[in-house]
Amino acid sequence: MNIGPFTLANNLFAAPMAGVTDRPFRQLCRMLGAGYAVSEMVTSRKDLWNTLKTSRRANHDGEAAPIAVQIAGTDAAMMAEAAAHNIDRGAQIIDINMGCPAKKVCNKWAGSALMQDEPLALQIIEAVVSACAPHNVPVTLKMRTGWSQSHKNAVTIARAAENAGVQMLTVHGRTREQGYKGHAEYDTIATVKAAVRIPVVANGDINTPEKAREVLACTGADAVMIGRAAQGRPWIFREIAHFMATGTRLAPPLVAEVKRLLLDHLQDHYALYGEFSGVRTARKHIGWYVKSLPQGEAFRDRMNQMEDCGHQMQAVADFFDALAVHTDRMPLARPDTLLAEAEGRERTEEMEKEEKEA
Ligand SMILES: Cc1cc2nc3c(=O)[nH]c(=O)nc-3n(C[C@H](O)[C@H](O)[C@H](O)COP(=O)(O)O)c2cc1C
Repeated sequence: MNIGPFTLANNLFAAPMAGVTDRPFRQLCRMLGAGYAVSEMVTSRKDLWNTLKTSRRANHDGEAAPIAVQIAGTDAAMMAEAAAHNIDRGAQIIDINMGCPAKKVCNKWAGSALMQDEPLALQIIEAVVSACAPHNVPVTLKMRTGWSQSHKNAVTIARAAENAGVQMLTVHGRTREQGYKGHAEYDTIATVKAAVRIPVVANGDINTPEKAREVLACTGADAVMIGRAAQGRPWIFREIAHFMATGTRLAPPLVAEVKRLLLDHLQDHYALYGEFSGVRTARKHIGWYVKSLPQGEAFRDRMNQMEDCGHQMQAVADFFDALAVHTDRMPLARPDTLLAEAEGRERTEEMEKEEKEA
């Protein structure tokens, strides 16, 4: 699968998730089998580019190509400027966010709310494509199926985006009105795929290798994108890759491997955020890794009280050592719990804070 000049390792993508898919997590997903991982959204507001948060989001140290940065905003000129700014900072692909349900920029709804205003959506797309063209940077677009059940305009926007030069489309199979409720539907994604020639990525509620195969088959999409089901389970990508290649399930990872992966993840995380923020923002990741494990809830409560890296890492190591006494391999997570529990996680503290900042 290609995006512009880039050939990807496979067609399993990690979804952009604000407050989750930072550089350490993207690198982990790619190491564990994701062929592509998009950054968390970066605001188009210039006055926020120098904040610690935005500069961390624009940190691509050691990240493998292609580096894909998602931008969010409501003003075409600002979005074009944001694209150019991120290209200067290493972005090789620019993704426009028209998929996120809860993002306010300059007191206007951005993200999927743009789908309600097709002329403005197209203005933004054209401006970003023009800003990226001189650098040969492909532009991609992530959207939902539409604004509401009675206003499903993904196909119209997809055609307009393709004509304007967008090189790949991702469609989350829900409307903006739905938020994360109900189930993703894939018929609209199939219709989008049939309507355009550029690659289409199917997204929404994919939480098992079987589901990934089913969604690829029923939509005809070129790739699948996985978000919430990768939280605390970044090895889902290699599980899907194995299943697609062999038709059989890969055994769950060894407890000892997960311990090592998580400790390495924590070290990368602290290195990016520093001790104070690092310990606090690592808690949600640790919580996701342990949530379906015996004593996981109690451990999460205890770990949330810890305020320094050393104690947090030691507690994690001890937790997995104790688990390894009882079992070699991680238990299989029940697929229905993976998404149900994560529902509404888009309203994490970080996102709410970010909305306030904007
Ligand atoms: C915590 C969280 C943050 C998200 N942040 C973004 C974002 O920054 N940009 C975006 O396009 N979508 C964002 N999304 C939506 C996801 O990329 C994805 O479309 C959605 O979660 C559906 O996929 P899933 O069912 O595999 O999770 C976010 C979702 C979650 C749960």
